[in-house]
Amino acid sequence: MKHETTSHGHGDELRINFRHILFALSDALDLVGIDDVAHGKRVGIMAAECARKAGDSPADVSALFDLGLLHDIGVSSSVTHGHLVQEFDWNGAQNHCEIGYELLDAYPRLAWAALPVRYHHTRWDCLPIDLLGKSAANWANLIYLTDRVDGLAAAHYADGSLLMSTQSIRQFIEKCAGTYFSPELVDLFLEASRSEAFWLSLEPRSIQAYLSEMLAQGDYCSMALPELKQVAEIFSRIVDAKSPFTAEHSHGVASLARHIGRRTGVSPENCAKLEIAGLLHDIGKLRVPDEVLDKPGKLDERERKIMNSHSFETYQILRCIPRLEDISHWASCHHEEPNGNGYPFHIDARTLELEARILRVADIFQAMVQNRPYRRGLPQEDVRLFMADLCGRGAIDREIFEVIDSDLPAAYQAALPSLASV
Ligand SMILES: [Fe+2]
Ligand SMILES: [Fe+2]
Ligand SMILES: [Fe+2]
Repeated sequence: MKHETTSHGHGDELRINFRHILFALSDALDLVGIDDVAHGKRVGIMAAECARKAGDSPADVSALFDLGLLHDIGVSSSVTHGHLVQEFDWNGAQNHCEIGYELLDAYPRLAWAALPVRYHHTRWDCLPIDLLGKSAANWANLIYLTDRVDGLAAAHYADGSLLMSTQSIRQFIEKCAGTYFSPELVDLFLEASRSEAFWLSLEPRSIQAYLSEMLAQGDYCSMALPELKQVAEIFSRIVDAKSPFTAEHSHGVASLARHIGRRTGVSPENCAKLEIAGLLHDIGKLRVPDEVLDKPGKLDERERKIMNSHSFETYQILRCIPRLEDISHWASCHHEEPNGNGYPFHIDARTLELEARILRVADIFQAMVQNRPYRRGLPQEDVRLFMADLCGRGAIDREIFEVIDSDLPAAYQAALPSLASV
């Protein structure tokens, strides 16, 4: 029987149901679809149901479900997402497979998924089966097949016409046997998708029930803070890849927040957590459409509202992972101001924790000193004047800014880690 307990052997070790992490990743990836959500979850459910139909072991059924959640981990851009859903065989598809492969391959606990993700847009008649092995080739191709089914079904979810369209979707897939998809997998899909239940399980309410069931079957693992940081790095790379405007921003914020934390008496454990919060703080930006995030000029009121909802979206994702309450709170409060005029909760200095205030200052400073495609990082004097003005209005914490200001070269180095490593 599985218990959710905290290990007290190591102060920094958490007992976490790993599916909570996978669900958070999946929720973050869902944001990229803006209003077209749950793509990965539907692919996971369809792949798992095909595996169940084939009589695969419960472990393999679970793995295929997880693979469905993860398969689009290389997609950060809403434009890329649009191409992938709307075009059956988009010629730009391989790029997100390669990014996904690299992200997964670098993290031992998910490295098993790297190869199937790399080949989840490769036709069956082009798959290097000798290199992959039969089982990874089958998994890659089953994800490809169910991914394309979801693309074909996408137009029918919203208007309730899905059950009227299943025959044409099944016929379409049948025609791809031997070219796009393995003939055996096509037979398996046709068999599994004969029932209405297969399709009805893709509706939002059924998805929720399916997720709860899979969560209950999830394995608990011990996760120390260094591994949690590795997971946070995956999230941050997804966000930072979304736009050249945000490249390396999360990384810089994390490293600067840790730097400030050390100089303001934050405990070593909380400094490590602060760094993780820095990596995660902007994951809600995945919900901001590319054209708003990349707009070089001033945002209009509607665009500003969309942009400003990102820290609440960060909260929505992180709050679902038990045991990460403090990290989640600091990350979600990085636009709160000591004077209470920030967002999304309007928390003020009385309840705003030191770590959250540090993250806010680190976020602003990093964004100002980073080079952007349309401008160089701002000169020191401009940064100082701007931040002094924010201090004057109670929008940031003066003592924290003074920590940066007292040793600007060190702050620059922490905020721009890639420069430090050159
Ligand atoms: Fe996909
Ligand atoms: Fe932000
Ligand atoms: Fe940020």
